[in-house]
Amino acid sequence: MFAKMIRTKSIRHILQQAEKGGGLRRTLGAWDLVLLGLGATIGTGIFVLTGIAAATHAGPAVVISFVISGIACIFAGLSYAELASTVPLSGSAYTYSYATLGECLAWLVGWNLVLEYAVSVASVAAGWSAYVTGLINTLFDLELPKTFTACPSLGGIMDLPAFAIVMLLTYLLVRGIKESTKANNLLVYVKVAAVLLFLALASPHVKLSNWTPFMPLGFSGVTSGAALVFFAYLGFDAVSTSAEECKNPQRDLPLGLIGSLLACTALYILVSGVLTGVVPYQELDTAEPVAYALKALGYRMGSALVAIGAITGITSVLLATLYGQSRIFFAMSRDGLIPPAICKIHPRYGTPYIITWLTGFLVAIAASLFPIDEVAELANIGTFFAFVTTSLGVLVLRKTKPDLHRPFKCPAVYLVAPIAVLLCGYLSLQLPAVTWWRFLVWSLLGLVFYLTYGIKHSRLNTHPDEAEQRRSA
Ligand code: ALA
Repeated sequence: MFAKMIRTKSIRHILQQAEKGGGLRRTLGAWDLVLLGLGATIGTGIFVLTGIAAATHAGPAVVISFVISGIACIFAGLSYAELASTVPLSGSAYTYSYATLGECLAWLVGWNLVLEYAVSVASVAAGWSAYVTGLINTLFDLELPKTFTACPSLGGIMDLPAFAIVMLLTYLLVRGIKESTKANNLLVYVKVAAVLLFLALASPHVKLSNWTPFMPLGFSGVTSGAALVFFAYLGFDAVSTSAEECKNPQRDLPLGLIGSLLACTALYILVSGVLTGVVPYQELDTAEPVAYALKALGYRMGSALVAIGAITGITSVLLATLYGQSRIFFAMSRDGLIPPAICKIHPRYGTPYIITWLTGFLVAIAASLFPIDEVAELANIGTFFAFVTTSLGVLVLRKTKPDLHRPFKCPAVYLVAPIAVLLCGYLSLQLPAVTWWRFLVWSLLGLVFYLTYGIKHSRLNTHPDEAEQRRSA
């Protein structure tokens, strides 16, 4: 049994599979990939969590929190880029681990990517709801009842707008109206314009006095803030799930990954610096801090415009993430690790409708019932796990297959990958104990599922030629 758990997929086979393609059309270029990364990344993290992180963790030093988690992501991103260019197949960290660290770990990575994708959607949807209710308030002076716009721990019964948006987008995905590249590009331009508008309106009002004290809760506040705002970077790895749709994946995937990460890091540093410079950080404990700050400065119209941009941007994150989740399930069912029946394709719409509805419904429930920051922390811990295994995977592959053709090589890999592992490991330890418990219970459930189902139905059981042949075997 142990041998089955550590068997790896043969890279040669993966490359053949990638060459054949899964029937997906290769239409994406480098710029599309950068925009895809930004589309899946800029959302609730910057528009909502920045305020919570500043008010309850880091104070104005939330800027440093963004720098720390940005470095962790860029270092892990370099490992992603090497593996994405070497093993250009959908499935992202799950596929890379299958080729390097073995089936059981790969399964656990895939299982925890559900936290990164599906669980983060719940948090993102709650951010969407906050901006929509805030916008209605700004435009029409109408206060929607908290009972139906807040989760129980914030004094409501359920967050109905969050529930509704997830169900609506699930319906669109089932119907096959996935975001086309053009629509995604447009949404990205709108949200980047919203961020730039905020910077243009707010930066002249920065008061140095708002930046003191800079680190009210000390450095530990900065690191726990970093573990929270890490959420803002989630999604850049979605670029790597599109490997089978790139025109030139080996050159463009690294460009897309690193390009979108650098752009996000720059925007996040500017926004968090300006935000804490214009409003005392204590006031930012609101679910729509960017719009709030503009309103406080007297820009009612500007605030409404930025809110519209934020809503548009957050919608694109929701769509891209729900879509990415279906791609990962698709890769896992192709490998036989989850029952093919639930990934069945709709006869008319050509989409995996059962798993999409199931995921959508559970996510909508979570979005309407749980507080945004706790859900974000759970999504983060799953992602830290994926980043650590990907960074380890790149090292393992350098050792086990030194001669493999690597179109993109992570620079100073023996320094960069271990730093990514240490930094992601360290940040994950800053998350509250309750998040760790949830993560461990979730992983245990995954392990039980693998041992009772996956290991018996893995495609490698019936296609041993697709496994890497061990020299000792
Ligand atoms: N990075 C994504 C967001 O901030 C998940 O909404």
